[in-house]
Amino acid sequence: MVVVGSANVDLFAAVPAIPAPGETVLARGREVRAGGKGLNQAVAAARAGAATTFVAVVGRDEGAEMLLAEAAAAGVDTGLVRRADGPTGTAWIMVRPDGENAIVVDGAANATLTSLTLTERTAVSEAAVVVAQLETPLSAVREAAEAAQASGARFLLNAAPASELPEELLRCVDVLVVNEHEARHLSGEADPSSAARTLLRLAGAVVVTLGAEGALLLDADGERRVPGLTARVVDTTGAGDTFTGVLAATLATDPDLDAAARRAVVAGALAVETAGAVPSIPTSDAIAARLR
Ligand code: ADP
Ligand code: NA
Repeated sequence: MVVVGSANVDLFAAVPAIPAPGETVLARGREVRAGGKGLNQAVAAARAGAATTFVAVVGRDEGAEMLLAEAAAAGVDTGLVRRADGPTGTAWIMVRPDGENAIVVDGAANATLTSLTLTERTAVSEAAVVVAQLETPLSAVREAAEAAQASGARFLLNAAPASELPEELLRCVDVLVVNEHEARHLSGEADPSSAARTLLRLAGAVVVTLGAEGALLLDADGERRVPGLTARVVDTTGAGDTFTGVLAATLATDPDLDAAARRAVVAGALAVETAGAVPSIPTSDAIAARLR
């Protein structure tokens, strides 16, 4: 399968308080981690057992090396990741002791993924499943969607972060994956079931993740709920990306959406039990152990 999307260096600062305008606060600690929805989802798919190629753009800096090393260590094929002049995508994340945060993102190299190269397009066309999110320019997401549709690949769109989507793009989406907030934003409907029904007018299937409540599926066969698992919540960062990556990885070998969603719900629950995004993404063995 192919994941088209973002790769970011996440710079965390533990702060006693989020600074107000004009204010300076001293950090109590810092951490540098691999992130970006694209990279997280590629790692989740690879750990879940799928042969995963990552289509992304990073810079020519130390951060890029760290991201490529993390992805490769998880089993992601990074051979197609492109280099742009200038910095790698970066997120500055301030976290308060109660977990509240404030984030600044500089897309940097991610913003140059405006269209697919011939090699990238070929990789998309040869894949069984293609996944994209909305942290990279919409133009390349659309190219990926159209190439996937033309070749018969299943195209999953994780419409995150919440933004406006052209109808022509939604019509190319086989499985739309959104959380409750994104479902509401895209459909204008507060209730997840109503939102899913509205979105199904364009997409082939809709999956709404419901946090601890699991997920809701809607396709031509109607609505189903996949119950959540009871988790010891440590850090919910990366839960949604883990869900999407594992859903896609599972669909790459078995088209059954319900079975894939059950596996993704288990993986998402495991991801909230460990700190961080990439470090918390489970392996296929860990998912299998919890599925029983
Ligand atoms: P996002 O992180 O994008 O907001 P959700 O909060 O819906 O997405 O979480 C995605 C998935 O992660 C859920 O479908 C579920 O499987 C799992 N998950 C998230 N939060 C919890 C939780 N508190 N307990 C158990 N599972 C969770
Ligand atoms: Na986590």
